[in-house]
Amino acid sequence: MLTETQRVEFETRGYAVLPGFKPAAEIAALRERALALVDDFDPAKGAGIFSTTDLAPSAERWFLESGDKVRCFFEEEAFDAEGALAVPKRLAINKIGHALHALDPVFARFSLGADIAALAQALGLERPRVRQSMFIFKQPAIGGEVRWHQDATYLMAEPHPVLGLWFALEDARIDNGCLWVQPGGHRGPLRERFVREGDRVRLERLDDTPWPGPGDAVSLEVDAGTVVAFHGLLPHYSAPNRSAVSRHAYTLHLADGRSVWSPLNWLRRPHDGVPGG
Ligand code: FE2
Repeated sequence: MLTETQRVEFETRGYAVLPGFKPAAEIAALRERALALVDDFDPAKGAGIFSTTDLAPSAERWFLESGDKVRCFFEEEAFDAEGALAVPKRLAINKIGHALHALDPVFARFSLGADIAALAQALGLERPRVRQSMFIFKQPAIGGEVRWHQDATYLMAEPHPVLGLWFALEDARIDNGCLWVQPGGHRGPLRERFVREGDRVRLERLDDTPWPGPGDAVSLEVDAGTVVAFHGLLPHYSAPNRSAVSRHAYTLHLADGRSVWSPLNWLRRPHDGVPGG
């Protein structure tokens, strides 16, 4: 599953890259299913982002309610000045989240297999539990930037931080918005926490350590089928996609069953998808 070198690299650098982790057939099935979910998605029934008067609260609600659902989210640049979709729906969606692994059979098959259980255990999670899943489209031309962050900001668990698994479903290159990481950055502090209070969320600064500069970032150009495993404290980002090709990826976040899930997390329902179970 994981060579000793890869395991040591994960510990020292905070991430490991495993090419060819998922076969082409599984990737094709996932992408096909994601597009079917987009086709079925009727923006008029939700999202609320067409409203011009309560944009922020309705978008926040759409997000906060999605922890135990399968919901589509739009790219910020998918709309024209009048608020109408400027591109076809299949090219307008930023991501689908956040309980694909729990609610959709195709995604459950991909997410809860023995391969992922073995990988998570090799990376130190004694009792791996999938808490969150996202299909990320990173659309051609309008795929949005994801600024520097640590995933533990959004999914806090103690004492074992969450493990992120990032599956490349298409070749990821600098041009189409691949991941950038700061090797070893997982040894730094948690800089922010995303706190939920009732139906509102806010980002709190915890530590003034600056985000890495351009010289500290390493690009992860990987082929479809690769999984990148990363530590919850590893700073990473991805640039906007201004190229003509998408950069589909699928992410899972796993917690260790031994950890305590923070009551401050936005994601309230645990969704214990148990890989290999
Ligand atoms: Fe992330």
